[in-house]
Amino acid sequence: MSTFDDYLATFDSEPGYLNWAAFGPLSPSVREEVFADADLLGSGRPSSLALVGERIGQAQELVAELLGSEAADVTIQPSSTHGLMQALYGLSGAVIAGTGEFPSVSLTLDRAAAASHGALTARWITPDDGRVTPDAVAEALDDEVTALVVSHVDFRTGYRVDLAALRELLGPDRLLIVDAVQSFGILEEDWTAADVVAGHGYKWLRAGRGSAFASFSARARERIAPVLSGITGTTASGLFMDELPAPTASAQAYTVSMPDTLAAGRLAIGVRDMRDAGVAAIESRLAENVDAVLEIADRRGIAVISPRERSERAGIVALAPEEPARLAAALANAGLVVTARGSSVRVAPHAGTDSGTLQLLDDALTAFGYETFTIA
Ligand SMILES: Cc1ncc(COP(=O)(O)O)c(C=O)c1O
Repeated sequence: MSTFDDYLATFDSEPGYLNWAAFGPLSPSVREEVFADADLLGSGRPSSLALVGERIGQAQELVAELLGSEAADVTIQPSSTHGLMQALYGLSGAVIAGTGEFPSVSLTLDRAAAASHGALTARWITPDDGRVTPDAVAEALDDEVTALVVSHVDFRTGYRVDLAALRELLGPDRLLIVDAVQSFGILEEDWTAADVVAGHGYKWLRAGRGSAFASFSARARERIAPVLSGITGTTASGLFMDELPAPTASAQAYTVSMPDTLAAGRLAIGVRDMRDAGVAAIESRLAENVDAVLEIADRRGIAVISPRERSERAGIVALAPEEPARLAAALANAGLVVTARGSSVRVAPHAGTDSGTLQLLDDALTAFGYETFTIA
């Protein structure tokens, strides 16, 4: 078996799971290694604690490898929202964001602006289809704009922005701040287009909550004041007393306190497994599974509002059925786990989603169509 086949074989949750954009059931290696790390912490021996402490550096190295950056530029964060806070609270000028963004982007920008005493303003855009395209951003761009904050893949519409085109539009003097929660590890991307990349491990990486990160490029470090800088973000190397050292020049200035080493370990294992399997292979298998979901929806006459082009999507298919609540109930009754929100039903397979799960979806949608026909 190839490494990629080994990776696929690790998807051991019950058939019917199509909710990877919300939560990723923990992988076997994450489950095993977190127990081993917890045992080490249970010993209390300094050497054991130090061993688990190495997880922080491992996670930084592995995330940096996938991002094409340096380990020192990667910070370990309790959540991706914490990472976005570190970036947005330190900015001034006008920052463009879509009103339809996940609240980790929109609410954080609003709160940062409110705390800035006028130094930072949010410049909201509401594109008709919710897509943050270069054209939509260009309309809001002027000399006051210092940054764009955007989800690489939108949690609702599944739309994947064109990072390279946005970078080009913004030019070298503005920051591109990216929420990579719905794409990190499953898309091969030139992340160096972005100045800040925030992500987490509890969906596509199958690593559980608390396992997040944010990277800060040299340009980001020049322009983002480390206002939320804590005891791990200073020029001091150990514990300091009777002095208040300045924030360090490195990305670690955007950290508050020591990371949870168990969470850092889970992040490291989650990223390592994806690196070993190959992000390109994961992306292409996931694309096939998304194609299969699209084909089933089309065949069963359910409207799709997420993009169909591979270059404009990742792992999210947004269905817009005529009777969303009834469809959501039918899928739940059939043992399928999806996210139903308002008028849409979000279906999110992973690379390891098996044919049995896709068949369950097909069968449930067939039964759903038949019921509609007989009731009508
Ligand atoms: C696009 C996006 N950003 C941020 C988050 C929240 O991330 P965290 O819980 O790490 O703050 C989510 C969660 O679903 C999300 O979909």
